[in-house]
Amino acid sequence: MLILAIESSCDETAAAVLAMEENRRDVLSNIVASQIDTHALYGGVVPEIASRAHAEAISKVVEDAVSAAGITLKDLEAIAVTFAPGLIGSLLVGVCFAKSLAYALHLPLIPVNHIRAHAAAAYPGHPELKAPYLGLIVSGGHTSLFDVKDFTEFVEIGSTRDDAAGEAFDKIGRVMGLPYPGGSAMDKLAAEGKKRTERLPLPSPAIADDSLDFSFSGLKTATLNLIHNERQKLKLADHEELPLAFREAIAASFTETVVSGICLKLEEAIRRTGHRTLVVAGGVAANSHLREGIEALAKKYGCQLFLPPRSLCGDNAVMVGAEAYFDYKKGILAPMTLNAFASDESAEVAEASFIS
Ligand code: KG4
Ligand code: ZN
Repeated sequence: MLILAIESSCDETAAAVLAMEENRRDVLSNIVASQIDTHALYGGVVPEIASRAHAEAISKVVEDAVSAAGITLKDLEAIAVTFAPGLIGSLLVGVCFAKSLAYALHLPLIPVNHIRAHAAAAYPGHPELKAPYLGLIVSGGHTSLFDVKDFTEFVEIGSTRDDAAGEAFDKIGRVMGLPYPGGSAMDKLAAEGKKRTERLPLPSPAIADDSLDFSFSGLKTATLNLIHNERQKLKLADHEELPLAFREAIAASFTETVVSGICLKLEEAIRRTGHRTLVVAGGVAANSHLREGIEALAKKYGCQLFLPPRSLCGDNAVMVGAEAYFDYKKGILAPMTLNAFASDESAEVAEASFIS
């Protein structure tokens, strides 16, 4: 089945064509137009600017995805689009475009949940990957553990009670003057910092109770306090940077605390669910230290680990197309009145009406 998928939930306008069958999960094209440079000027995503940029980019991105796949619009068999959760103005651009295309081409329209799509970034090239499995999504908006019953049924068994892991990375990165988004720059700084033995004491994001929940706000505040105290101690003016060795020590200490906290709850989830298939995805799953920690954990428990390639951890449309195939097979189809939804909760309510 040839699926054209569209993703526009945040600051990437993306389109991809996938060939999906029972035993075939192939990517024919994958186009991503990133707005990072635009938002970097403001140190974070500006929603109004994001929607405008999506509207400007989407026609060309879709056209490029179709031609890079070596097909024409007539070959397509379904249109898939992220409808929730995300920035409402951004989502609406993709949803309106997908609806128009599906209507004009008389094709089924598959509404895709962005969180389930992140996990689906691990499916292409791996027809052997089957549910049930244990899923961990770590992104800019989510840090959640899922007992994945099948590709369309994700039962949340743990999540963050405040900030997401990616949000915390970005905030620490911003305060240390790293380019936006801070995650990947923090990754590199931490690699240098890890070579030294000095570690700064920080509170774990794993909540100390028998839940599988996280909290990143205490860790974020404690890290920010260390940074501010050091600036005061060194009497730095606003425009002066902290010494590189200190920034590396912060990045290493913060990253190690995040990795060990996430791995602690993931290990508990492996024990509780008994799953031996693991999928870890989302923007923060690109973090090299987290990947190492999770690989070691998978080895310890004899789990088969599916980590998407780094290029598919952040937002893209390949993951949307991969999830869409399984949604379609389940009968999840959207009417031409499909709307976009910002929150997880409203997405869930809307999804209940999609099953035909
Ligand atoms: O999944 P994603 O692209 O967007 C959301 O759905 O939220 O995730 C973006 C997040 C950002 O916070 C970014 O800083 C983080 O993923 N990120 C990383 C790395 N690469 C991206 N965080 C830590 N280490 C990285 N290498
Ligand atoms: Zn995302």
